[in-house]
Amino acid sequence: MDIFKNNSLSVSCGPGSVPYLHEEIRHLGFRILSEHNRGVEVEASWEDAPRLNLCLRTALHVMYPLKKFSCRGPDELYREAAVLPWEEIVDPDEYVSVVSTVDTGRVKNSMFAGQRVKDAVVDRLACTRGQRPSSGPGRDNVVLDLFWSGDTCWLYLDTSGSKLSDRGYRTKPHAAPLRETLASSLLLAAGYDGSVPLVNPMCGSGTLAIEAALIALNRAPGLLRDNFGFMHVKNFDEKKWRALREEMNGRGRGELPARIIATDIDGRAVDAAKNNAHAAGVEAFIEFHVCDFAETPVPREKGICILNPAYGKRLGAEIELGREYRRIGDFFKKKCPGHTGYIFTGNPALAKQVGLRASRRLVFFNAGIECRLLEYRLYE
Ligand SMILES: C[S@@+](CC[C@H](N)C(=O)[O-])C[C@H]1O[C@@H](n2cnc3c(N)ncnc32)[C@H](O)[C@@H]1O
Repeated sequence: MDIFKNNSLSVSCGPGSVPYLHEEIRHLGFRILSEHNRGVEVEASWEDAPRLNLCLRTALHVMYPLKKFSCRGPDELYREAAVLPWEEIVDPDEYVSVVSTVDTGRVKNSMFAGQRVKDAVVDRLACTRGQRPSSGPGRDNVVLDLFWSGDTCWLYLDTSGSKLSDRGYRTKPHAAPLRETLASSLLLAAGYDGSVPLVNPMCGSGTLAIEAALIALNRAPGLLRDNFGFMHVKNFDEKKWRALREEMNGRGRGELPARIIATDIDGRAVDAAKNNAHAAGVEAFIEFHVCDFAETPVPREKGICILNPAYGKRLGAEIELGREYRRIGDFFKKKCPGHTGYIFTGNPALAKQVGLRASRRLVFFNAGIECRLLEYRLYE
């Protein structure tokens, strides 16, 4: 059985990011087979997984389907998983982890379902190779994903391993940082391609500005990581992988087409943002300032101004924040005419305080909270 002959990959993303993930994949030259609210199925082979992992900015996991089967209980799950030729996939020296999501009455908890798959893998390798691989919760080596819904199971090899949002540059998170993949989705939703200036007041730990720099420099975000799930699978071709990284490295630009400006009133936030930008290799491309957002230098050339203000839940905080949101509206009107303004917030009442009419309202989720990316066309 050639376990690596399937011709589809399942790529997941955060809620709200599907259109941008779809566009990214299409742009890489792949055909989308289907789409759902947390990702897409792509016509692509096992060999394509490294490229997708390296290039995609909005994806969380790239998964290779091993098997879909009907399943009515944990014993059947074990039997179905054990017939896969694990000796062709996993070296017994590797470490295996199984992540499971269940929505079925056939099993009491998802951990137990994952445990049965892990047992099947380990027992089969003990039988065929005379050695049991170690296993546990870490996602640094071979990662399997089990989805069990009703009477159907899907078993995947997670070619990413840990989430692709873990780029590895955020050495110093500040207050409430955005997930890197969400920041990229917001920028792509704003139509940012690096060709116009990007202004990011209230930058916090700098995620939006850093992701913007990676987009503008055409740098594949995966180049910042040195570990992916596919690297631990038996047929990993290190030579091809090195050549692909070199090819992607060669595609990056050495200069920014337009300025990126990031500011925050808190000097510690700007320090953290600079550190993170340094770790991402883009510090030299971002202009940082410590200042009130209203003092942010805004280029005359038309561009994008994007803010992610706090959206506190306490009443006192809301009154105080309401004043800040009104000030953002004034800042947009006075300092940003000709630009397109964006506010990313999880608080609709505060968003109303901006006092401008939004031309678009896009729904995303940030740490489980429904949020909106609000767009304001700021006419001259
Ligand atoms: C929700 S955080 C932004 C998080 C950021 N998007 C990230 O990914 O790290 C809001 C930021 O606004 C900053 N801030 C609050 N009031 C400000 C003001 N008046 N002027 C400038 N920055 C301000 C805070 O210091 C904080 O870093």
